[in-house]
Amino acid sequence: MTVLLAESFAERGARERARALLDAGSFRELIGPFERLSSPYLATQGVVPQSDDGTVVARGTIGAQRACVVATDGRFLGGSIGEIGGSKIAGALELARRDFERGSPTRMVLALDTGGIRLQEANLGILAVAEICDAIVALRLVMPVVAVIAGRVGVYGGLALSTSLCSTIIVSEGARIGLNGPDVIETESGLDEMDSSDRPLIWRVTGGRMRHEQGFASEIVPDDVAAIRSAVERAFADPHPLPALEAPAFPDPRLERDAFLRALGIEP
Ligand code: COA
Repeated sequence: MTVLLAESFAERGARERARALLDAGSFRELIGPFERLSSPYLATQGVVPQSDDGTVVARGTIGAQRACVVATDGRFLGGSIGEIGGSKIAGALELARRDFERGSPTRMVLALDTGGIRLQEANLGILAVAEICDAIVALRLVMPVVAVIAGRVGVYGGLALSTSLCSTIIVSEGARIGLNGPDVIETESGLDEMDSSDRPLIWRVTGGRMRHEQGFASEIVPDDVAAIRSAVERAFADPHPLPALEAPAFPDPRLERDAFLRALGIEP
């Protein structure tokens, strides 16, 4: 009798998740913890920084093809993204785009587990997310950009916006995808709107299965390394880089403002 035991992806740390997604023995970390590139803003706020800033960038191969996996560490400040971690992610995406231009296409996987922009680094995190979104949009014109949302946190806030730009979104049932987190909704709109301690409710609203059913995720997978690896390989096996995103023609914000002032009876 063969007993197949699932090997949990969610129970691994970011570095081990990146290692699990890359072909055995191919993991090589860029800007690793010994570079001591940690956030300079946390200590002054009484938070102990982490020497990789909670973001792991690893090169290697997937299906014997050149690859890069970015994994965020949900155990460090909820996997939130500040200036350093955000720059690492945007830099990795830009590097993959340059690899393609140099004739060495790189399979890019974002294994995100994050509460979004780091509250302690607010504006810097917002800038980082803008750079990440920009880099995803540029890369997916030439190569698929695959998101794996299969950690304990899931993906929230600005990074949920970035995730939605990826060409394939693989989600596990235990993960979550949302814009405002339950804590933020409860704080801003009260307990009637969202009880952030009601975990079944949170998963009913933002859980992986619900998001897949709503069409926000391309594929739902069990919390199993082998299943996630094969979903990633499938995403690259049929590599149809997506066309440019069609951005709506944004009205000139100054005209909007003028119209708003006129509606209030104020001549701008
Ligand atoms: N910035 C800084 N810290 C964050 C964070 C963020 N964006 N998101 C989560 N964390 C921290 C939490 O404060 C908590 O820290 P603590 O252990 O010191 O208390 C830790 O990560 C784990 O979060 P917790 O809320 O205990 O875990 P959870 O599984 O119950 O919920 C979230 C995780 C992400 C759903 C919840 O923390 C949340 O709603 N966060 C806000 C998400 C959001 O709206 N982001 C928008 C920013 S763009």
